[in-house]
Amino acid sequence: MNRLEGKNVVITGAASGIGRAAAGLMAAEGAKVLVADLDASHAEEAAASIRESGGIAVGFGVNVMDEDAVAAMIDRAVAEFGGIDVLCNHVGGSNPRKDLDLLRMDLDEWDRVMALNARSTVVASRLAIPHMIKAGGGSIVNTASVGGLIGDSLQSAYGAAKAAVIRLTQYIAVQYGPENIRCNAVAPGAIMTPALVDNIPADVIEGMKQANALPYLGEPEDIAHAMVYLASDESRYMSGQTLVVDGGLTSKSPLATGRSSMLS
Ligand SMILES: NC(=O)c1ccc[n+]([C@@H]2O[C@H](COP(=O)([O-])OP(=O)(O)OC[C@H]3O[C@@H](n4cnc5c(N)ncnc54)[C@H](O)[C@@H]3O)[C@@H](O)[C@H]2O)c1
Repeated sequence: MNRLEGKNVVITGAASGIGRAAAGLMAAEGAKVLVADLDASHAEEAAASIRESGGIAVGFGVNVMDEDAVAAMIDRAVAEFGGIDVLCNHVGGSNPRKDLDLLRMDLDEWDRVMALNARSTVVASRLAIPHMIKAGGGSIVNTASVGGLIGDSLQSAYGAAKAAVIRLTQYIAVQYGPENIRCNAVAPGAIMTPALVDNIPADVIEGMKQANALPYLGEPEDIAHAMVYLASDESRYMSGQTLVVDGGLTSKSPLATGRSSMLS
C-alpha cells in the first residue's frame, strides 16, 4: 500500500466519478493529494473523506479554464506539500446534447470542449513542469477516452479534443523526457460515473455493454488503478503511451457478435 509513498499529487476533476476514486486510491497508496475541482465544496468533502481514512489530502476549488486559477492551484500544492511529483489532468467531457455530428454541432461547444479537455492540459502541464524539473522529474497522467481513438456518431468535439490529449501526451513525453518527466494517458471506455449515467439514456448504456468484449461496464476504480500505475515508479520506463482501459471495446470487431452464431 505504499506505491506512491513520498509523491505529491495534483488531480483535477477529483470531486466526482473517476477522479474522486483516483484521488482516494492515490492517497491510500501513500501520496499527498491536492483534490481540485470546480465544485470546491465537493472537493473539500472528498479530501475530508481521505483524511478520515488516514490519508493526506487538501481540497481546492479551481476552474481549469481559468489560467490564473490553475496557477493558484499549482502554487497551493507547492506551498502545502513542498513540490509536485504527479499531475493528473483529469477534467474533461462535453455536452452530448450540443456536441453532435458535424452538421448539427454547436460551434461554441466545439471551442468550449477543446478548451476544457486539451487547452486545460497544456495550461496545467506548463505550470507544473518547472516544479517537476526542480524536483528531478515527475509523472503527468492525462485522461483521454476511447472517443479519441475511434469515430462515433456524435460528440465530434469530444473525440477530437481527446485525440489532441493523446497526441499532446507524446509531445510532452518527448520534450521533457530528458528532464526525467514521463507523460502518459489513460483512455477509458464506458465507465459508470455521474457524467455517463446522467447524460446517456439507459438503452444506449445497455448497448455500450453489448459492444464490450467483457460482459460488464467499468467502474471508476477500474480507471483509478491504471492512473495509480502511471503515477507510480512501477511505470518508470513507460512514457508517451495511452493505456486503453475499455472492457475490450476497441479490440472487438463489429463482426464478432454475428460471427459467433457460426460456432453453433
Ligand atoms: N465516464 C466515462 O465513461 C468516461 C469515459 C472516457 C473518458 N472519461 C473522462 O474521465 C474524466 C472524468 O469523467 P467522469 O465520468 O469521472 O466525470 P464526472 O462528471 O463524474 O466528474 C467530473 C468532475 O470534473 C469537475 N469539473 C467539470 N468542469 C470543471 C472545470 N472547468 N474545472 C475543474 N473541474 C471541473 C466536475 O465538477 C466533476 O467533479 C473526463 O476527462 C472524461 O472525459 C470518462
